Amino acid sequence: MGQKRYFLRDFTQVLETVSGEIDTVVDLFGGSGLLSHTAKRVLPDCRVVYNDFDRYDRRLAAIGQTNEILRAIKDRLTGVEPNQRLTEQQRADVLAIVETYEQRDGYTDIMTIGRNVLFSGKWVTSIDDLRKHTMYNRVRPGAYDCEGYLEGLEVVHMDYRDLFERERGNSRTLFVLDPPYLTTECGMYENYWKLTDYLNVLSLLKGTKYVYFTSDKSQIVELCQWLAGEYREAAPMWGATVRMRTNTLNYQAKFNDMMITRL
Ligand SMILES: C[S@@+](CC[C@H](N)C(=O)[O-])C[C@H]1O[C@@H](n2cnc3c(N)ncnc32)[C@H](O)[C@@H]1O
Repeated sequence: MGQKRYFLRDFTQVLETVSGEIDTVVDLFGGSGLLSHTAKRVLPDCRVVYNDFDRYDRRLAAIGQTNEILRAIKDRLTGVEPNQRLTEQQRADVLAIVETYEQRDGYTDIMTIGRNVLFSGKWVTSIDDLRKHTMYNRVRPGAYDCEGYLEGLEVVHMDYRDLFERERGNSRTLFVLDPPYLTTECGMYENYWKLTDYLNVLSLLKGTKYVYFTSDKSQIVELCQWLAGEYREAAPMWGATVRMRTNTLNYQAKFNDMMITRL
């Protein structure tokens, strides 16, 4: 989720800079856990709290089953070219495979399965959703592997505000904040995060060490720049460092991803 992998090198550098000054990293909006995972690897002696609000851990736990399903789909689609559109029969067979596992185990990682049979950028959260879509052979070669991915992490499933309240007392904590964007792959929450939600997150920044991710699509940085001009030290993000990466979606659409730090 998100394109945080483009920031991993910068994020790693920041972690190395604060090494020794902090003893805890709290990833308030953990998503896929990539930032928590990276933090633990770079700072193995730190306590790293991964807030898995979406229960990504269930998807990780189901990886064996997901691989089995994808192998069965791949076998069924033998001879179908990569990216080729599936016929009605092939589509029905794919659905039947997924249904069999869903009925047997009561769970399938439908998002990951969807990514392997749907047009790029489309995503589903239920088998009923999956039934509505045209399918393509986008099954990746090889199997998913998450061995050791969560190792050493403290995994919690909480609203970020409750977790912040729990952890704010320790001044040696680095908070990582990557709230939902208005339009990203965290599509479930599309348009769900309103300006007030963003402002609520900003109010946590005061007096904490943080790494905050955003993009110029959200205009939060513009707002903070204005506040800084008006209220100086009292403004959120006063004295913070901004790093930027241009994210090119296609030949027309471009935006800047930002990583903002105050350590
Ligand atoms: C931009 S994504 C984070 C991506 C993550 N950094 C990664 O590398 O995968 C934002 C995440 O915040 C979660 N979220 C939404 N509302 C939340 C809340 N009230 N408390 C905690 N997390 C929340 C979303 O479900 C989503 O996973």
